Amino acid sequence: STAGGGCPMHGDGRVRALLGRTNRDWWPDALAVDILSPNGSANPMGEDFDYAEAFNALDYHALKADLTALMTDSQPWWPADYGHYGPFFIRMAWHAAGTYRTGDGRGGANSGQQRFAPLNSWPDNGNLDKARRLLWPIKQKYGQNVSWADLFILAGNVAIESMGGPIFGFGGGRADVYEPEKDIYWGDEDKWVNEGVQTRIDPDRGLQDLDGPLAAIQMGLIYVNPEGPGGNPDPLQSARDIKATFERMAMNHEETVALTAGGHTFGKAHGNGDPSLLGAAPAGCDLASQGFGWVSSHESGGIGEHTVTSGLEGAWVNTPTQWSENYFRLLLDYDYELVHSPAGAQQWQPINQKPEDMAPAAWDASIKVPTMMTTADMALKMDPEFRVISEKFRTDHESFKDAFARAWFKLCHRDMGPKVRYLGPEVPAEDLIWQDPVPAGTMPSDADVAAVKAKIAASGLTVSQLIKTAWASASTYRKSDHRGGANGARIRLDPQKDWDVNEPAMLAKVLAKLDEVRGPLSMADAIVLGGVVGLEKAIRDAGFDVEVPFTGGRGDATEAQTEADSFAVLEPQADAFRNYLPRKLRVKTEEMMLDRAALLGLSVPEMTVLVGGLRVLGANHGERGHGHFTKRSGQLTNDFFVNLLEMTNVWKAVEDSDDEEYVATDRAGGHETWRASRADLVFGSNAELRAVAEVYAEKGHETKFVKDFVKAWNKVMNADRFDVK
Ligand code: HEM
Repeated sequence: STAGGGCPMHGDGRVRALLGRTNRDWWPDALAVDILSPNGSANPMGEDFDYAEAFNALDYHALKADLTALMTDSQPWWPADYGHYGPFFIRMAWHAAGTYRTGDGRGGANSGQQRFAPLNSWPDNGNLDKARRLLWPIKQKYGQNVSWADLFILAGNVAIESMGGPIFGFGGGRADVYEPEKDIYWGDEDKWVNEGVQTRIDPDRGLQDLDGPLAAIQMGLIYVNPEGPGGNPDPLQSARDIKATFERMAMNHEETVALTAGGHTFGKAHGNGDPSLLGAAPAGCDLASQGFGWVSSHESGGIGEHTVTSGLEGAWVNTPTQWSENYFRLLLDYDYELVHSPAGAQQWQPINQKPEDMAPAAWDASIKVPTMMTTADMALKMDPEFRVISEKFRTDHESFKDAFARAWFKLCHRDMGPKVRYLGPEVPAEDLIWQDPVPAGTMPSDADVAAVKAKIAASGLTVSQLIKTAWASASTYRKSDHRGGANGARIRLDPQKDWDVNEPAMLAKVLAKLDEVRGPLSMADAIVLGGVVGLEKAIRDAGFDVEVPFTGGRGDATEAQTEADSFAVLEPQADAFRNYLPRKLRVKTEEMMLDRAALLGLSVPEMTVLVGGLRVLGANHGERGHGHFTKRSGQLTNDFFVNLLEMTNVWKAVEDSDDEEYVATDRAGGHETWRASRADLVFGSNAELRAVAEVYAEKGHETKFVKDFVKAWNKVMNADRFDVK
């Protein structure tokens, strides 16, 4: 893949904090509601609330009818352009989904994050607060039966349908959250896109400058700057940025052209006024504004005719509320000249435009105004590769329709994970490769499980091998977009089977053995069951009597069901659980551990107990002895914590290790006792992690340690089992 979205943070010696610039940095005065989180979750629905159940009780068609009626129900406080809110809702949905990036699977529409900072206040999301307020009466009416997150996307779908556009389907199931995501990196710049250049792609260096996992080229943008890179109206450089950023949200070039052209078949840009009159974005507004942002001090209130959003002004086509073939026609048939909008933005205007090709004014259909193209639209005309696609779509409208419908569906569902998570009557029957389809498995009988367990136990595979393999299979899961995980057994396919972190030679041997003895079980089940066997032996050998649960029923995906390239981004650049760090990254090793734990959905104690347990089980990558603080390798004991906290050890960084490797000597004797990585020692140096490590090292907590490990292990093994939950 050219996108490199999965390659986080390599680089030229620059160091960055895991989270970059956060809400608190942008809005230091914002109310710190999260100080209450120790007292309970911010989610008012409570733990028993089952959104899937609530959605299934929704009167879906009534909701769609209400949404359709809303499209043309213009409100005086935010009048609809052309009497139709459709285009506005499409932009809202696109911006909700468009923050998705493949690198870490974060962003995207699946939790309704557009309601919260920073997204609710990104310059690129300007005025979308109005779109959400327009939706409120419908959200209020349907209550818990439809989440905001689903409503954003469904409103976009209904908008397209109501203007005659093609739709491929809709899957509900995006449960809302009630606070901003805390674990996401949006960049470390301290200026928004409109406050300074700071483009993330250096024209001379190209893509490598775009820091993984980011997928937007300036802070506060969904993807690219409409006026061109850093405001430079160069369509070819814009094409480069568009390709880079759309690839990082899993769109190929054809999908990219289809999406952008289809989107800009509708609506208009807003820049008929003075941008300096705009007030603060929602997160920075005063109390009386009630979160209503970008209020203009223009005499009209800056609504309707005088709206300023992007600062560009005008419609792309002459028929902005009707699906049509006009976008490519106008783009390709006219020559364009660079002009300035009333707000001062650079945009492109058709030369000698025929009156019938002009657009109606949004506020008065009797007035005709020239159409426009952004520099990003011009990229679809000027870039040779985009041009071929644009010409094809222009001559073959049916293929454009199909490509747009499919790309829109992908855009809006890309972060929902397996299709079993989709709800509602409009889920398309067709399986799509980007859904990472896994054939349904069968639940093995207890007798089969017992028989295979015995065979695995007698196979000669070691605890270390079994644990490593099960971990390698399951731990690719990321809750951000629900990709990865043990189901499908994709660990035996390209590219995962050859990942360095998975020790390919060892892995091949273990998989071959498991295949031999698995009987009627799927490989995916056999791999997880191997982990159970290894773990139970380690527990018994340590003198404990704790059972390890197993839930079978996983299926095995085939190569044809696997878009191998798309899995590159799941390859860990570091895995603290296996003490794996092939090269130093820009983000600290212990922060990478936290990031991986966050993606696995682990709590602090879960992360801690897993690392401590995996070390003594011998799960380190290769023969690495770091953090292996035990003399009883392969037994599940709390030795890691006991020895870590032992004051007889004096730790010091190994020279030339770049502070990645540490050695302990005995305080009295001076001889070497242990070696460790940053990921090991952080459990002794960070006070909060140390507090948890102490619990696991305490007398009387030996069994608790084993039980907690088993529970956390089982959580990881089953993280992707949406088919049984
Ligand atoms: C509006 C840029 C891709 C759908 C806009 C506006 C800009 C813009 C500057 C005007 C906002 C305003 O002032 O109100 C871009 C760029 C893109 C892109 C640079 C990527 C290269 C897309 C995609 C879609 C889309 C993929 C949907 C599939 C829309 C729609 C509007 C819009 C429907 C009109 C909103 C309205 O009428 O209020 N876009 N866009 N755009 N965009 Fe895009």
